Amino acid sequence: MIKARIIGTGSYLPEKILTNIDLEKFLDTSDEWIFSRTGIRERRVAAAGEYTSDLAVHAAHRAMEMAGVTAAEIDLIVVGTITGDFPWPATACLVQHKLGATQAAAFDISAACSGFVYALDAGMRQIQTGVARRVLVIGAEILTRIVDWQDRNTCVLFGDGAGAVVLAPSDGEAGILSTHLHADGSCWELLYQAGFGSRNPASPEGLEARLPFLKMQGNEVFKVAVRSLSEVANEALEANGVTAADLRLLIPHQANRRILEATAKRLGLADEQVFMNVERYGNTSGASIPIALDEANRAGLLREGDLVLFDAFGGGFTWASALVRW
Ligand code: UT7
Repeated sequence: MIKARIIGTGSYLPEKILTNIDLEKFLDTSDEWIFSRTGIRERRVAAAGEYTSDLAVHAAHRAMEMAGVTAAEIDLIVVGTITGDFPWPATACLVQHKLGATQAAAFDISAACSGFVYALDAGMRQIQTGVARRVLVIGAEILTRIVDWQDRNTCVLFGDGAGAVVLAPSDGEAGILSTHLHADGSCWELLYQAGFGSRNPASPEGLEARLPFLKMQGNEVFKVAVRSLSEVANEALEANGVTAADLRLLIPHQANRRILEATAKRLGLADEQVFMNVERYGNTSGASIPIALDEANRAGLLREGDLVLFDAFGGGFTWASALVRW
């Protein structure tokens, strides 16, 4: 089977910064509470008139530029998102149009914070089977438009952004060595958006009940997240016959610094082996791993031959990992 490798990374963060101090002005919260419980100091907020597909296109352009790939060469676009421009059509189709990638097939993947790793798996398999030669995999979110700004339990946690990678066939050692995807639908109610789908179609009463906004039972999610992130990371290491010490970098979904520290401790990783930027962007759901990957890559933290592990957990529940030889 053909191995798929990442030949370019890109990311885009909206300009507007919303700090914890800004939140104190309209919410019963404090910088001290938010930072000590989550490690977040600030998050980005998309501008009026800026949509998820726009963030995705900016990130995609940067990844394509690094990869030296033109829009005409892209065979497939997969976008991991739960905050697309519309419920349908797929945001990937809007991205395809904006990029002018007229030869590309396009679809979205809905796996919440695991969306990018799920999308990476889908893209990788199209390369592995020879169906596609250049695949754009994107994680893009505008969470600030689905959070309830009256709910301090959730709105302080999330932010907007996008990250992208270009996949191509590998002719050497570099490439995606494994992916492991999991789900447990029995936990759907712990982290979800109640309206407006077929269960709760759009209605004034639904709006009154704040159904279109994200709901989360943070405590419950926290416990399962730590356990699942370390289990799926260990699963990847064991499947590849390597240990945590062999990792150059763990790039986990950036939900909460305490979750990341607890996961790193369980895995026995040193601080410098774990990439963290949750302080600056908060939780950007499906976008967090490709944004972190691009920052790590452009900072020169990854060298040829390094082992990098992506590790994600989110609504569904879904959780997933991907081990990459850089
Ligand atoms: O993206 C993947 C999925 N998401 C996650 O992984 C997030 C997982 N969960 C978490 O990160 C944490 O559970 C939170 C950060 C959401 C909450 O931290 P916690 O330590 O679990 O706090 P808590 O929910 O137990 O709340 C403690 C207290 C409550 O007050 P009472 O009831 O004890 O008086 C909350 O009302 O903190 C209060 N609180 C706040 N206070 C000030 C909740 N949010 C805030 C706030 N500012 N923003």
